[in-house]
Amino acid sequence: MKPQTTPGEKIRVALLRDRKARGEKIVMVTAYDYPTGRLVDEAGADVILVGDSLGNAVLGFDTTIPVTLDDMIHHTAAVRRGAKRALLVGDMPFMTYKVTPEEGLRNAARLVQEGNAEAVKLEGGREVSATSRRIVEAGIPVMGHIGLTPQSVHAQSGYRVQGRGRDEARRVRDDAKALEEAGCFAVVLECLPWDLAREVTEGLTVPTIGIGSGAECDGQVLVLCDLIGLSFGEPARYVKQYGQVGEMIRQAVTAFRDEVRNGAYPDRGHAYKGRSTGE
Ligand code: KIV
Repeated sequence: MKPQTTPGEKIRVALLRDRKARGEKIVMVTAYDYPTGRLVDEAGADVILVGDSLGNAVLGFDTTIPVTLDDMIHHTAAVRRGAKRALLVGDMPFMTYKVTPEEGLRNAARLVQEGNAEAVKLEGGREVSATSRRIVEAGIPVMGHIGLTPQSVHAQSGYRVQGRGRDEARRVRDDAKALEEAGCFAVVLECLPWDLAREVTEGLTVPTIGIGSGAECDGQVLVLCDLIGLSFGEPARYVKQYGQVGEMIRQAVTAFRDEVRNGAYPDRGHAYKGRSTGE
């Protein structure tokens, strides 16, 4: 079997569908600015999502609802400057695509033109399929997102597993199909029972990217700040922390504070040589 991708090869939408056909997992990670975009790209993620998790992860909000389109454009453009290889997906924030398909298209176009995203992500199922189709037909690739959709936190009565029970499960399956038919190139499945996520994955020709939805999706995504240990509070059950960056920052700044206070910094090794008189 051929290798997954040639090293350094630019990841494009069509490649993700090939990955699914070959049973090769897709890795998606969020990023929010130049350094995180660059590091996530250099570490080999296939897809970088500038998620509206920006709101909770970086801007200090309780939900993603306050995040604006201008916020998303600003952060997506910064990630773009750091990320060269991964496919760059920009999240459409709250209520920028649910009023009319035309408004959704106009806003998606801004995320691509001003933010330099290569694709956009919309939360929702059948209710956003017409808008997804309109955006796809205008030439912008769309990623779907069903299950737990954080912009609907109030309607979903909190951050809860979705798709439990026969009716809910049927709704999730129908939503996934509607998004595929609308032309979405991939669908995020957030917080679905494993067996339902597997069923949806098997029923689609486009890849599914899971978060809290088990191992049988075609790929996995985590929010960067959760993955590297730079978040506060109890992480969700499905989160695995691969680093403790928050603790490293705390230790480094504490060490700097102590050395400034006790005069150990700056020392001779960390100062420009010479005197102002030029002697
Ligand atoms: O905003 C985000 O980071 C997301 C991912 C959790 C899929 O939508």
